Amino acid sequence: MSVIGIDKEKCSNCKQCIPECGRGYFYVNENGEVVFNESLNTCNICGHCIAICPEDAIITKNLNDVETFPGIDSPETIVDYDKIYKLIRAKRSIRRYKAKKVPQELIEKVFKAMRYAPSASNARKWRYLILSNPEKIEALSDEIVKTNYAYMGFQSGEQALKYFKSIGRSIFYKAPHVIILYYRTVEKNATMIGFRANDAGIALTYGMLAAESLGLGTCWIGMVQGAVPMNREILDILDIKGMVLGAFTLGYPAVKYRRTVPRPPLKIKGLD
Ligand SMILES: Cc1cc2nc3c(=O)[nH]c(=O)nc-3n(C[C@H](O)[C@H](O)[C@H](O)COP(=O)(O)O)c2cc1C
Ligand code: SF4
Ligand code: SF4
Repeated sequence: MSVIGIDKEKCSNCKQCIPECGRGYFYVNENGEVVFNESLNTCNICGHCIAICPEDAIITKNLNDVETFPGIDSPETIVDYDKIYKLIRAKRSIRRYKAKKVPQELIEKVFKAMRYAPSASNARKWRYLILSNPEKIEALSDEIVKTNYAYMGFQSGEQALKYFKSIGRSIFYKAPHVIILYYRTVEKNATMIGFRANDAGIALTYGMLAAESLGLGTCWIGMVQGAVPMNREILDILDIKGMVLGAFTLGYPAVKYRRTVPRPPLKIKGLD
């Protein structure tokens, strides 16, 4: 997947791609023509050259999901502030779900929204796993409860699990689906660990907001990422390798809220 050049038949030499490319791929040659520097190898497929070109003249290899639609040049006309603000305020972490699977088509829409989240250096290292088998979700919950017992104030894993079973609770609230974000590589450098965590948070938030707009409910379940470093057997249950940096439940909410919840004001320096 890459940007590989300019289609000279289409290019109008408008020069708009030049300032858009942070990596300096486009320049004017001695004949006054905009050209693509093939000797560079630093393109991070940000796609800005593709997005700006009025002639659709950027040649790409294996990049086939570029779209255009009304509002692409003025996103505020697609969803105005009032609508997005209300969606954010109406969104709750859902802890009661209907016993009803989400159709594949809607699940795919949630993933599609996460595909277009930003990530540090456009690294896009996320990998996803979706669990939809109730027994597997229950088994995962049990293992995580046993692992996280101290965090929840229990004396042992067995005691924690016994309590959860006695009240019929799962850390996934009996949601029909759990989406897990993981990385194959375990980062060692503090900056990279931070970037991967940021990438995960943003991608999952995109997914959760998309789910909200589809009439679905979600809840981030931090206990998954918290348990994995303490108990690597959880990775065996999931049949994945690496590190988990986020998970959320997905399903139809069995609750309808009537008003927003209160939140303390933000602490903001420099705003009068
Ligand atoms: C990183 C993170 C981890 C979370 N972990 C859990 C969790 O393990 N279980 C849970 O029920 N909620 C979890 N939540 C949901 C928060 O408790 C919830 O967002 C917060 O109470 C605010 O409620 P609201 O999302 O309904 O506005 C988590 C949220 C975040 C952002
Ligand atoms: S995709 Fe981004 S980095 Fe690559 S050539 Fe285009 S503008 Fe430059
Ligand atoms: S933006 Fe497109 S049309 Fe304009 S110079 Fe670059 S490649 Fe050519």
